[in-house]
Order: sequence, then structure tokens, then C-alpha cells
Amino acid sequence: AGLPMIDPFGRSIDYLRVSVTDRCDFRCVYCMSEDMTFLPKKDLLTLEELDRLCSAFIAKGVRKLRLTGGEPLVRRDIMTLFRSLSRHLDSGRLQELTLTTNGSQLARFAAELKSCGVERVNVSLDTLDPDAFRAITRWGDLAKVLEGIDKAQEAGLAVKINAVAVKGMTETEAFRLIEWAHGRGMDLTFIEVMPLGDVSGHRVDQYLPLSVLRAQLLDRYTLEDIPYATGGPARYVRVAETGGRLGFITPMTHNFCESCNRVRITCTGTLFMCLGQEDAADLRSPLRASESNGLLDEAIDRAIARKPKGHDFIIDRRTKQPSVSRHMSMTGG
Ligand code: GTP
Ligand code: 5AD
Ligand code: SF4
Repeated sequence: AGLPMIDPFGRSIDYLRVSVTDRCDFRCVYCMSEDMTFLPKKDLLTLEELDRLCSAFIAKGVRKLRLTGGEPLVRRDIMTLFRSLSRHLDSGRLQELTLTTNGSQLARFAAELKSCGVERVNVSLDTLDPDAFRAITRWGDLAKVLEGIDKAQEAGLAVKINAVAVKGMTETEAFRLIEWAHGRGMDLTFIEVMPLGDVSGHRVDQYLPLSVLRAQLLDRYTLEDIPYATGGPARYVRVAETGGRLGFITPMTHNFCESCNRVRITCTGTLFMCLGQEDAADLRSPLRASESNGLLDEAIDRAIARKPKGHDFIIDRRTKQPSVSRHMSMTGG
């Protein structure tokens, strides 16, 4: 029934991430292969079905809801879903409605997102160099993303920048990203590359442990531990010299599974209990089987009852296969 979700390790699940499309207008090198095949559009849940799924999870205790992709803002009519979900903010059940975006369409949607009760957006941006940006995303236009960030801030949205730490680039780029983000009053988080899905290169060549980056940052900055927490996996410090917040997301060097509070669903209605495991539960069938949520709630409860302890990600020259075969774009991280 509509009971709160507590997993076998006593972790309470109150954060749902929903990938509304597996498609993206970029092809970031650590995320996708060059020749991705996407799901046929007919397999997607409708926006009404996504709304019903989200609402069922909110009834079961979800307080933080993040739409992801692929790129969520390329899903047609996505604002209809935001608008409709905002009723759960009005009722006080949902504390946060938000999204993670590559920023390419943000200029167009920022004001409308704000009017739907979104207060914070996470924008993925790994470099401020237009050529390096094009290389990482395979063809992305940095200027469009920067315009999106401008518009988001103008609309009154708080912006957090997510930068994947990429070997050979972020060691030097990090300083410029920190000065820029903090200069604009934005939080910045660095993320370790995770081995999900085949990409064209080997992730060993992309992976930069954040312990290494942190040591480099300490040459120039004083990093002060602070208690700030968003309910996401980042551990934050304050950079004394800039006054800004810097987060580290370290699935590889410092596993944070012990405090996991989240599950994710794909655009076809598959529930993944852990980003780093293959086990999944089909929610589309129980969703479609009945107008009432009885079967759906039972399927969710059965799935939460087998949420794994954590991931077993490995990035190693000897490991040719990624730890998990699905790409990040299926679950939006
Ligand atoms: P905030 O609400 O700002 O804390 O956002 P968030 O960190 O929860 O979400 P975001 O979409 O910005 O995710 C940042 C990175 O964290 C992405 O690369 C995600 O893949 C990664 N991430 C989020 N949740 C998990 C998780 O449960 N396990 C692992 N390994 N990575 C995660
Ligand atoms: N490892 C780590 N982060 C990744 N992202 C995409 N693919 C990977 C990966 N393999 C990041 C994106 C975005 C967030 C949702 O996940 O850059 O910021
Ligand atoms: Fe698209 Fe995000 Fe994957 Fe880049 S990381 S290809 S922007 S889904």
C-alpha cells in the first residue's frame, strides 16, 4: 500500500530520479558511444503515465523529485509534466522539484521552469573552453549553454554546475571552473567517471580520481569542511579564497552507498534500485494493468525490499566491459 519506502539496510527512500527520455542532443564521451541507438518512441511512457508514477512515489514518501534524461528538455511538451507535478509542491508533500540538464535548451525554458516551482537546476558543464567543450560533447555549443545559465539566473533559479572530472583536462580546467562558478554565486561539483555502458574509448583513459584533483586544489586553495547537504551524493567544502561551495561526488574513491536515499526510473517505466547494479523491476505493466495503484504499490514494495547494498563499479585496464551495460542516459545518473 502507500507505505513509506524503507530498504533492507534501513535506508529510507525519499529521492526519486526520473529519466523522461534516453535521447540527448549531445554525446558526451564518458556517457555515450558515437553511434547510440535510442529507444523507439513508442516504448516511452506518456507524460500522463510519468505523472502517475511520480505521484505514486510521492504518496510513498518521495520528497525530492528530479527529472533527468538523456536530456530532459528535449522531451516534447516536458513543461506539461513539470506544470502538473508542481501541484505536489503546492500541497506541501513534495519539497523539491528539479532537473539535471545539459543546458542546451535552458534559455528557452528557464522562466517557465521557475513558474512551475523549480528553484534549483543542475547544469552539466565540464569546461569553459569552446573547443574542448565541443570535443567532450562531440558537437555541443558552449555559447548556448552559457546563455541558458544566464537566463536561469535571471529567472531567479539557483544553478549548480556539475563537472565530470576528465583526465588530461580537469587538472587544469578546475581552477577556471571554480573561479567562474563561485564568481557567479553558483555551487560547483566534480564527479568521478563511472563505468556505465560502452563508450568509444576506455574509461581508464578518462578517469581522474577526485583524491588526485583535491590534492592539486590544495596547492592553491584552503578547503573547509561544511555541513551543507542537499540529499544528493556530494560532500561539500567551502573554498576559503572564493567563498563558494565545492562538492565532490566520489563513487569510485569514496563510496557513499551507505547513505543512499534514492531510486530511479527510466522513460519506459523500469525501476532501478541502484545506479551500479543491473537488477530492475518493471513498473509499466502494473501501471497499465489498473487505474488504481494497488498493483503498482506492491511492485514498488517488492523492488525496494531487494535494493542492493551498493555498487561494485570497477575502472581497470584489465576490465574491458563496463560494470553495468546500460548507459547513464537510461537512468540519468
Ligand atoms: P543535488 O540535489 O544538487 O545534490 O543533485 P544530485 O547530485 O543528487 O543530482 P545530479 O543529477 O546533479 O547528480 C550528480 C552526479 O551524481 C551524477 O553524475 C549522478 O550520476 C551522480 N549520482 C546521483 N545519485 C547517485 C547514486 O545513487 N549513485 C552514484 N554512484 N552516483 C549518483
Ligand atoms: N560517469 C559519471 N558521470 C556521468 N555523467 C554522464 N555519464 C557519466 C559517467 N559515465 C554525468 C553528466 C551529468 C550527470 C547526470 O551525469 O555529465 O552531469
Ligand atoms: Fe547528454 Fe548528459 Fe549524456 Fe552528455 S552526459 S550525452 S549531456 S545525457
